[in-house]
Amino acid sequence: MDSLKIEGGVPLKGRITVSGAKNAALPLMAAGLATSGTLQLENVPRLVDTQSMEVLLANHGMEVSRDGLNVSIGGAVTNIDAPYELVRKMRASVLVLGPLLARYGAARVSLPGGCAIGTRPVDLHIRAMQALGAVVELADGYIQARAPGGLKGGRVVFPNVSVGATENAMIAASLAKGTSELVNVAREPEISDLAECLNAMGARITGHGSDTIMIEGVDELGDATHRVIPDRIEAGTWAIAAAITGGDLFLEHARRRHLDALLDVIVSTGATVDVREDGIQVTASGRPRAVDITTDPFPGFPTDLQAQFMALMCVAEGSSRISETVFENRFMHVPELARMGADIQVDGGVALVRGQKSLTPAPVMATDLRASVSLVLAALATEGVSEVSRIYHLDRGYSDLEDKLGSCGARLHRINGKDG
Ligand code: UD1
Repeated sequence: MDSLKIEGGVPLKGRITVSGAKNAALPLMAAGLATSGTLQLENVPRLVDTQSMEVLLANHGMEVSRDGLNVSIGGAVTNIDAPYELVRKMRASVLVLGPLLARYGAARVSLPGGCAIGTRPVDLHIRAMQALGAVVELADGYIQARAPGGLKGGRVVFPNVSVGATENAMIAASLAKGTSELVNVAREPEISDLAECLNAMGARITGHGSDTIMIEGVDELGDATHRVIPDRIEAGTWAIAAAITGGDLFLEHARRRHLDALLDVIVSTGATVDVREDGIQVTASGRPRAVDITTDPFPGFPTDLQAQFMALMCVAEGSSRISETVFENRFMHVPELARMGADIQVDGGVALVRGQKSLTPAPVMATDLRASVSLVLAALATEGVSEVSRIYHLDRGYSDLEDKLGSCGARLHRINGKDG
């Protein structure tokens, strides 16, 4: 397994172009299953996860081709099975459930199984499909769903906010007969991006971005070309990289309205945030001030930036309380940060971080994507050489990470094939 050797202590300075959003690209690609035409997606990041989705769509029989950052999806489904071997690699595979059911009246999708960040069930996805008239059974580790006469518009009330279940329901309801009302939906920018793409394909969706979405079903979806929004989590990660190294980074394509919660907190730590037309400049010097955060669904502080922000708080002046409310068990980075000298106490979903003047270099490894990058950030801020292993997690969510950071002065290189 590859690892990254990082010689930290260099303030990062320069410009990073933020790639297309992984979490927008995945549901958009799944929506390709629902069209009778061709969906052309632009700005699709080159990542292990988007590649896994390409493989999954091809497994269903779709014609998928990639040219640089453009991905074209067309053809017809010949196989409604999403097998365990593919789904276990990427939980977002469950996003094929809605489009398969809506267009083909049947789907067989493996349950994703355990996951490093909590149990992450799929009950809300199933509940949404049932509210749209599907008959769902769980058997042999699979979700087996049928809607022989097609899905019917209905009222779906989500007891908790789920990004993925909202997306599945939106795609499914777009092809259901009649009108659907989705209540207590996720409001993430990726939801609006999906709604805009589906509307370009001929769907009739309104209310996206609020907590209630209305969808008038149509008979079929057609051709569309759609550009994936910039990755707000990648942008937020680099904003924290500037803050933790006392650097000065221009994040090209980053959008303020996608990052309000993080940027407000970054300013409270003492950094300067300058919003420009085509991106955001983040400048910092000296030690950050400690700030408390609580993760929440959008527009709250994103859980996908919690680990990175914790790395920043490890070197802050003062103590910070970090509350994780979206996922249980999302503190796997804590023992690894502690190996670098961080002082963190976890009690349930709350971590108390006592900031240190500096961390010490150490070999570390991580168990999920955002935890991995938090260790990279900690290493970038630490004098001496650290080694972050198991970086295949990083390849799931950060394209060209070494080039992007290297061009801003980071001293890091990948060591191939080392057993992590
Ligand atoms: C998406 C993101 C992920 C992010 C998360 C929360 C993608 C591909 N991934 O994941 O990066 O961390 O949103 O912002 O977009 N839940 C249930 N039952 C369900 C579904 C979810 O109880 O059927 C729970 C989850 O366990 C979790 C919470 O709801 O505690 C939120 O999960 P959800 O919003 O569904 O996350 P994902 O869509 O999987």
